[in-house]
Amino acid sequence: MQQGTFPVELAELAAALQAKSGIFKADQEALALREEVESAARIFIFDHETQAETFTKAYGIKNALKCCLALLSANIEPVKYENVRDLGCGSGVFGLTFAFLATNPRLHLTFVDQSPLHLNIAQTVLTDSGCAGDFSFLNQTLPPDLPSNSELDLISYWFCENGHVASDASLIDRLIGREAIIVDYEKVISGIVDHLPEHLVVKDRWSVESDVPLHMRDIVGDESVRSYGIHIVRA
Ligand SMILES: C[S@@+](CC[C@H](N)C(=O)[O-])C[C@H]1O[C@@H](n2cnc3c(N)ncnc32)[C@H](O)[C@@H]1O
Repeated sequence: MQQGTFPVELAELAAALQAKSGIFKADQEALALREEVESAARIFIFDHETQAETFTKAYGIKNALKCCLALLSANIEPVKYENVRDLGCGSGVFGLTFAFLATNPRLHLTFVDQSPLHLNIAQTVLTDSGCAGDFSFLNQTLPPDLPSNSELDLISYWFCENGHVASDASLIDRLIGREAIIVDYEKVISGIVDHLPEHLVVKDRWSVESDVPLHMRDIVGDESVRSYGIHIVRA
């Protein structure tokens, strides 16, 4: 496993978001949910209608760190992408991390989720972040085909809840635009790689671990994070 490091400013953003809305701190209820997830001997499917806020406290900033490691591991230049989607965005942390790294006022980033509760949280997070860009929020169940000029799709922990897509080349093809960065459980990533349509190729694949910066540990409620992922592109 590779070792990664985070830009120091990410900790400042996390602290600022926590101070503004308080929706990210891993409290007792969130830590109890994590324990339940970790002790389940299977991939845990959340009830996003009742658990959106607790999920955000348990996994919001932790997943933001995993997504940040993914973006750094994919060796892309975020500033070069102007049309981006965060599919199954939850609290919007993948898109947030992307916008934070891109600092690009020309960025158009669309957040898509079937849960209105999650989309509301994502909207608050992006507004509070002060990140540059134009952000829109779309309440939709995936994957029907979305009208799109997407250059890059960001997808974290969505495939694990939609295994039927991960194992179907034609549905993967319909979901993804020109490129995608996918973060998920290691075995879910392997399943996707095994079912990619011919014209979608893996440009990079990573397994990376990093210590959580000391001054973020209180919000994250953990000392280290691991990120598994792939960057796929249309050949
Ligand atoms: C495990 S959460 C991950 C959220 C976020 N991407 C992250 O990494 O923290 C999965 C999200 O996908 C959304 N979701 C699951 N299945 C979906 C579907 N078929 N269409 C749209 N959204 C979906 C859920 O509402 C939830 O917000």
